[in-house]
Amino acid sequence: MGNLTRRQILLGGGAIVGAGLAPIIPATTGSSALKLISAALGADIPKPDQLIRMSANENPYGPSRVALKAIAENIHLTNRYAADPTNLINLVAKINNISPDHVMTGTGSSEILNVAGMLVGLRQGSVVCADPTYQALLRYAANAGVEIIRVRVAEGLNADLEGMRKAVRNDTNMMYIVNPNNPIPSVIEKSAMKEFVLEQAQDRLVFVDEAYHEYVDNPDYESMIGLIAAGHNNIIVSRTASKIHGLAGMRVGFGFAHPDLINEMNMRKTGQQTILGERAAYASYQDMEFQDFSRRKNKESLAIVEGMCEDLGIRYAKSNTNFTFIETGIENAVVQERMLEQGILTGRLFPPFTTWSRISMSTPQHMRYFVQVYKQLFA
Ligand SMILES: Cc1ncc(COP(=O)(O)O)c(C=O)c1O
Repeated sequence: MGNLTRRQILLGGGAIVGAGLAPIIPATTGSSALKLISAALGADIPKPDQLIRMSANENPYGPSRVALKAIAENIHLTNRYAADPTNLINLVAKINNISPDHVMTGTGSSEILNVAGMLVGLRQGSVVCADPTYQALLRYAANAGVEIIRVRVAEGLNADLEGMRKAVRNDTNMMYIVNPNNPIPSVIEKSAMKEFVLEQAQDRLVFVDEAYHEYVDNPDYESMIGLIAAGHNNIIVSRTASKIHGLAGMRVGFGFAHPDLINEMNMRKTGQQTILGERAAYASYQDMEFQDFSRRKNKESLAIVEGMCEDLGIRYAKSNTNFTFIETGIENAVVQERMLEQGILTGRLFPPFTTWSRISMSTPQHMRYFVQVYKQLFA
């Protein structure tokens, strides 16, 4: 290998050419180059045959067996149009201690986010949100002519509620809060959150995106569905079957709001639930064992990555979700590219955090492989 360091090999073509050693690596980008890299890694855990997805905050175990059974038992109904969501709505309402007229379904919570984006688009004005945060609603509203006012998260990476308060203008028609947030998996302390939501909801819609609710194990957190059940009429909460239920491909999500607002949002929907999605979610929401299992394994995986961060002195946001956000100090594009070469798909760029990476949890074994690769590449 001469003077070629392992780091140069792992940093790929650029570093190698920079070192004047390009001829050592075959010109093809195919398996021989990858084999050379794998050999250089001296990997204990071998490179997997298939890409490991750590990019979209999916459940690596799902769907649950009961959901799969429901899909299999109803597959012959796919010649029929959309499902009647009544049973599913009743079930999800009961789980959340709210009456069914406060609940709607969507094709993923994305549809609830888009419908809310459309509502605010009809009113124009502005939306205030934390930065960074999840983009779907904001993108939809911006495309409809709404101005998005982004308030950078505070020093500790939590939402800057005071800054968001100050950013509100006379034309602000919606406050959008993702709790726990994404890509930063932190939660807002419950009493501060409640006070903020109630105060903001006096003058505008407040949308609380709780996509990761089921993963949270933090006494500081509380869902805002209780405020809706208590009669507040300017609050929308969204939830999803895509995360802990492992049904991302089935497109099932939920909106919670005052019945008048639910009616208004239902009128704006563009999607329809599929029968398989409805049946799979109906089964999955009753399967507590699978949710407990997913939560337990997720914690195990998080501990592996957070342990690596502690070892290497990497800053990270303590996670309340199925992903973590770590300050690698390396441009995310480089992390993505090098990880991909080793069979791992990691999260996209979240500006302005260009040297941070969002890593979705896969199985503990996959996370050990991630740590092995990360240490060999970047430590
Ligand atoms: C915060 C947040 N909200 C909503 C969604 C959309 O989820 P879905 O449309 O699958 O319900 C995601 C997906 O990653 C998310 O992270």
